[in-house]
Amino acid sequence: MAQDRFGRQIHYLRISLTDHCNLRCLYCMPEQMIFRPNHEMLQDQELLLLVRIFADLGFDKIRLTGGEPTIRANIVELVRSIAATPGIEKLTMTTNGVLLGKLAAPLKAAGLQRVNISLDTLNPQHFRTLTRWGTFEQVWEGIRAAESAGLIPIKINTVVVRGYNDMDVVDLARLTLEHPWQVRFIEMMPFGGVTELQQSHVVSMTEVLARIESALGSLEVANDGKLDGEARLFRVPGAAGEIGFISSVTAPFCAACTRARLTADGKLRLCLLRPKEVDLLAPLRQGANLEELKKLILDGVWNKPWGHGLAQGEIATNRTMSEIGG
Ligand code: 5AD
Ligand code: SF4
Repeated sequence: MAQDRFGRQIHYLRISLTDHCNLRCLYCMPEQMIFRPNHEMLQDQELLLLVRIFADLGFDKIRLTGGEPTIRANIVELVRSIAATPGIEKLTMTTNGVLLGKLAAPLKAAGLQRVNISLDTLNPQHFRTLTRWGTFEQVWEGIRAAESAGLIPIKINTVVVRGYNDMDVVDLARLTLEHPWQVRFIEMMPFGGVTELQQSHVVSMTEVLARIESALGSLEVANDGKLDGEARLFRVPGAAGEIGFISSVTAPFCAACTRARLTADGKLRLCLLRPKEVDLLAPLRQGANLEELKKLILDGVWNKPWGHGLAQGEIATNRTMSEIGG
């Protein structure tokens, strides 16, 4: 199994399938985002070859991200091939939900197990302002389609942005009263592209928790206090679902990190928030053999940075979130 020099076992790969998106969330990318030409991106066969290599190295869990993974051409076939790769036991996706109305059932049938859906507010006007191009109803329909297709348990990702949706967190938390969903509040992190807004509008998880508790009463600790991925879980007593907090900025979880990332242009990125990357696509196209590619990956993983430096004000601005995959 791939291991880093700090003894962390790295077996979870997040793959950005495309840097394109059908929305333009304020905290993610500028409206006039410039995308790279397709030939600089991993093509299907290249991607599937790398997935087989990662699986050989002990990676057993894959999350597909973007940009927006559902807009990748052939997404259903890609999911089918990745799901069928020996060694891959968990296959999930993070999506904005816009296309799930029609894709949820085919994706489930192709072997996708679960989805995390981004939803920052239940207020249609706020939704439009935050996503610039999206409509709330479409995503809501996507969530229901995902649930009926059995892509469960549904997890909802909410990035909290001061002045845009911090007033809506209680309504989102209320969803868990009736629905067996996990609603996770995420502290906004700074990346390239829109760093200014990201840094000036962060809301800490302590503040979100306080807001929720003042409206819904004290939350109880769920999941025996253990992290679920990167989320700390709580529950309104008696509720069907759970409330999660992902406090990357104020309480990093780097010590327990098991992940690496593959960018849409075929770079192995060792930490979301550090610029260090290892190019896999160029060697692959230059004819590197399997052993050489494996060595590149293992060496990269070995040198995975310990953690990010957000608390010290260090940020990696070489890429936007949509290029790295969340
Ligand atoms: N900080 C935190 N989360 C972000 N996401 C996008 N940009 C940021 C940011 N700056 C979230 C999306 C999605 C996931 C892929 O990452 O809302 O839920
Ligand atoms: Fe698209 Fe997700 Fe970025 Fe929003 S946060 S623009 S949905 S990639």
